[in-house]
Amino acid sequence: MHDILPQDQPWWDKVRKETREVVDFYNYLRIDTPILEPVNLFERSLGAGTEIVEKQMFVLKDRSGDGFIMRPEGTASVARAYLQHGLSHLGQPLKLYYEGPMFRYERPQAGRQREFHQIGFEILGGESDAIHETQVILPIFRLLEGLKLKQLTIRVNTIGCKNCRPTYVQKLKAYYRSRLKNTCKDCQRRYQFNPLRLLDCKELECQEIKKSAPSILDSICSTCHRHFKEVLEYLEEVKLPYQLDPYLVRGLDYYNRTVFEIFSDFHTPDGQKLDFALAGGGRYDYLFDVLVGKPLPAIGGTIGVERVIEAMKAANINVLPRSRAKVFLMHMGVQAKKRSLVLLEEFREANILVAESLGKDSLNAQMRSADKAGVALALIFGQKEVFEDSIIIRDMKTGAQETVPLKKIVNEIKKRI
Ligand code: HAM
Repeated sequence: MHDILPQDQPWWDKVRKETREVVDFYNYLRIDTPILEPVNLFERSLGAGTEIVEKQMFVLKDRSGDGFIMRPEGTASVARAYLQHGLSHLGQPLKLYYEGPMFRYERPQAGRQREFHQIGFEILGGESDAIHETQVILPIFRLLEGLKLKQLTIRVNTIGCKNCRPTYVQKLKAYYRSRLKNTCKDCQRRYQFNPLRLLDCKELECQEIKKSAPSILDSICSTCHRHFKEVLEYLEEVKLPYQLDPYLVRGLDYYNRTVFEIFSDFHTPDGQKLDFALAGGGRYDYLFDVLVGKPLPAIGGTIGVERVIEAMKAANINVLPRSRAKVFLMHMGVQAKKRSLVLLEEFREANILVAESLGKDSLNAQMRSADKAGVALALIFGQKEVFEDSIIIRDMKTGAQETVPLKKIVNEIKKRI
């Protein structure tokens, strides 16, 4: 878990600002859900055999002994809130987005924290229309593009439905049966409890075996096939760069049909590739079936903010410094210091940002602060000026100074910046 220090905030601000623009344009409504959820929500939604539920949930107990989970992701929480508040009346389908911290007890490493932040997009309800895949992927992609991330690729696959997936799983198990002794311990467990996840193993020897595994695309039923074909056609229509990856499966049980992940193929100057997904998601029509016994068409995707910021930094993407003040107010003497407080309020009312370091009395120290803030103009307010109701404007570049009456200063600055 990390602190987000002031020097990192410009990146976070940039991500938040870009998010606002995207959600406003694509018409997603914001939803916030609590960090703590009932224990059984994630077990039921993500699946008892998934890595998150088996190993990664932070479990808390309150004074009465009731257990809670610190949410490891947002989709199950959004589905719970949708049901609990009967949100279907807000729209069919309903587009929701959220941002906030998630918690997973993982081995910390590059791109993997125990507390991390997600920005998620979900489309719930309405018809199970393949256009919704694009309506989720597009804002995510535009958000990443808006942050100036380049060489983005969308890996996309279908994992079929209840009808056709079991046939594929059988074929997959048949393929792995004779090779199981050459796979890692985790894969031997996956074979038993979650065979699709055999395709997700990062171990080198398992990756080799995966290369010749049967492709799900040969096993899906005609309805899933038609749906997937439409998904790809819509992606092509808006020229989203996708790669078909028949071995892409995802770590959560609630998915059916379309799954996707977005990567940046960017290499850092020292040749390193960022080897993690910036975003991921998929369709999850059966989640509501698990929760309330009635399926509901739903699709969503989520961006990992820390990973995005790491990618922005690796690509040397510049963000504006936080302070945009172009003016710095300096004081000399007790009276000037006091009246500076009032003067600053006058600038606030006029919507002009003014930097200061009122806690420093030495003019040299204030000058250094003004230099650091990179302002164009400094205002020098000394004893003489207080007495004469005036103030000095100093051009920080040329050093030229000019005295103006105090009551005109706000207008004068307005003209000059
Ligand atoms: P996920 O793939 O588990 O999907 O997470 C989505 C994104 O969150 C990842 O692509 C990654 O950028 C980020 N992420 C995940 N775990 C970590 C971590 N430990 N440290 C840093 N970043 C991380 C979901 O969470 C689904 N709820 C996505 C979804 C929405 N599916 C449907 N709707």
